[in-house]
Amino acid sequence: MSAALEIQNLEKRFSAGRPAVDDVSFEMSSGEIVVLLGPSGCGKTTTLRCVAGLETPTGGSISIAGALVSAPDQGIAVPPRKRDLGMVFQSYAIWPHMNVFNNVAYPLKQRGLSRADIEAKVQEALDLVGLSDYASRPSAALSGGQMQRVALARSLTYRPKLLLLDEPLSNLDAKLRLRLRADLRRIIKQTGLTALYVTHDQSEAVVLGDRIGVMRDGKLLQLAPPHEIYNRPADLFVASFTGASNLLAGRVRSIDREWGSIEMGDGSHLLATLGSGIAIGDSVTVAVRPENIALGGSGEVNRFNARVVSRQYQGVQTAYELEVFGGRIEVVELGTGLRFDDGAAVPVVLPPSLCWAYPQDPEAVSE
Ligand SMILES: Nc1ncnc2c1ncn2[C@@H]1O[C@H](COP(=O)(O)OP(=O)(O)OP(=O)(O)O)[C@@H](O)[C@H]1O
Ligand SMILES: [Mg+2]
Repeated sequence: MSAALEIQNLEKRFSAGRPAVDDVSFEMSSGEIVVLLGPSGCGKTTTLRCVAGLETPTGGSISIAGALVSAPDQGIAVPPRKRDLGMVFQSYAIWPHMNVFNNVAYPLKQRGLSRADIEAKVQEALDLVGLSDYASRPSAALSGGQMQRVALARSLTYRPKLLLLDEPLSNLDAKLRLRLRADLRRIIKQTGLTALYVTHDQSEAVVLGDRIGVMRDGKLLQLAPPHEIYNRPADLFVASFTGASNLLAGRVRSIDREWGSIEMGDGSHLLATLGSGIAIGDSVTVAVRPENIALGGSGEVNRFNARVVSRQYQGVQTAYELEVFGGRIEVVELGTGLRFDDGAAVPVVLPPSLCWAYPQDPEAVSE
């Protein structure tokens, strides 16, 4: 069976200089949710718009369900309406002068379905998004979250080959966003749709995606299941963008398979997992997530003496700033306890499989 979406060497250049989308390739299988994640301006929306046909790529190719829809070097550019897509964007984009039923029914009327068929499909879509009692409500009298669900229902009625969503939750308040993102995954999985979803919010990406693609400067850096992105980031950018905020400078002293002994600023040695292409003597940056460091714990490997510089009690967790390796690290301890005082000496344990060494980053802490 052909891939639901296949993108090869996609490039989009708006003007001279760095392309907005730079040699991006990936495939999606049917029923899969892929989330493109990355900072503002990294090319997420442009990638999605190229798939939709709203932007004309300058290179590469795009196939949807086995059909080539874009290949500039062969002069192929299938118009958006012929790509059989559903789209949900940041702005609600529903028609305020129509009621909920007519908004959702619109694409079906366009496709010339019978009245009975339309009624059944609209009702089914409204059930899915939890708005079955709102069919006759004027759209202007809906909350933001309800409007977003109407937009989603509208894109579900005709079961497109591919659903494209660009930050559909970003206009909503935090609580609604949390609820809708869980609903979204359930609805997409229930309908068996294939969905390409764009966000700059890592927690949204983790909850929603079967796989996450991290982008930077138009390039796709890593495309993998969420747990792999979090436990084995491909490079320093992926590590730090997804929250490995401790970046420590050191030098590689010895290597044993994927493990390296790293000499830190104060002369102590840290055992870390090495990224590719690192040799003895190289300067490296070790990235560690604040949640992956244990305070006061047992264990002989990677156990160091640290001192509490400051702490911030956050109720369900406490964020500590500690002095160690001649620099500072942040450690987050889950739980409502408040175990260590300012100035206290406390041992820290850093699990070697969760310390990742990458080629030197100039902004890493060094002494
Ligand atoms: N129509 C356009 N003309 C010229 N440059 C554009 C155009 N659209 C986007 N760009 C540029 O392309 C790059 C990628 O933009 P894009 O909108 O894809 O980013 P994004 O990852 O979606 O960011 P955000 O998270 O802010 O939505 C940016 O540098 C942007 O300025
Ligand atoms: Mg965007």
